Amino acid sequence: MIDLFKSSDDSEIILTELMLPSHSNFGGKIHGGFILSLMDKAAFASASKFSAQYCVTASVNRVDFINPIEVGELVTMRARVNYVGNSSMVVGIRVESENIRTGIIKHCNSSYFSMVAKDDEGKSVKVPGLIVSDDDGFRRFLRSIKHIKMRNERKIEFSRENFEVEKYQDIFKDYRVKFQIK
Ligand SMILES: CC(C)(COP(=O)(O)OP(=O)(O)OC[C@H]1O[C@@H](n2cnc3c(N)ncnc32)[C@H](O)[C@@H]1OP(=O)(O)O)[C@@H](O)C(=O)NCCC(=O)NCCS
Repeated sequence: MIDLFKSSDDSEIILTELMLPSHSNFGGKIHGGFILSLMDKAAFASASKFSAQYCVTASVNRVDFINPIEVGELVTMRARVNYVGNSSMVVGIRVESENIRTGIIKHCNSSYFSMVAKDDEGKSVKVPGLIVSDDDGFRRFLRSIKHIKMRNERKIEFSRENFEVEKYQDIFKDYRVKFQIK
């Protein structure tokens, strides 16, 4: 069987939305949860377009809200597949907001959604390989490889079966934590 490869350009999704007063929190800024929901939508569209399968969100590799988003700003999300495994893909999303009157654009966050392609029976299915066209593409791919490796190592190190508190006593003494029997 021929191994299918697709360009990361084929996965590009651009989603733009005007921020309405109903999207704001008590502080008058746009609610982070609303932005996360739009990001999830962009990640889903990008991964599903790339894999030609409906996908599910497996995990999100941190979202740092660098700048607040104001009511009336135009938010644009650019999403594309950065990495593919077997049935999983990492979709990178960059979120920017634009003040319509001044044209000033702010970078609000960049984050990485892990998506898994599913068939009609809900089974994980193989996705196409990824064609990158520049060093940045390789940089993003490599960042995902490293992140997945670190995630797996952390999972093993901190599993209940493997964790031995004695090994970490030297570390705890530098932190504001103490042991007290209940
Ligand atoms: C994520 C999910 C598909 C993984 O299922 P699973 O049975 O563990 O699947 P597998 O072990 O076969 O792994 C499938 C792929 O998912 C990846 N994966 C599993 N858990 C993951 C996680 N937490 N983060 C990132 N990738 C993950 C695996 O590495 C594997 O990748 P690969 O095929 O490229 O090697 C499954 O747990 C699931 O369906 N979760 C619910 C998803 C959902 O409903 N999301 C919306 C939330 S409301």
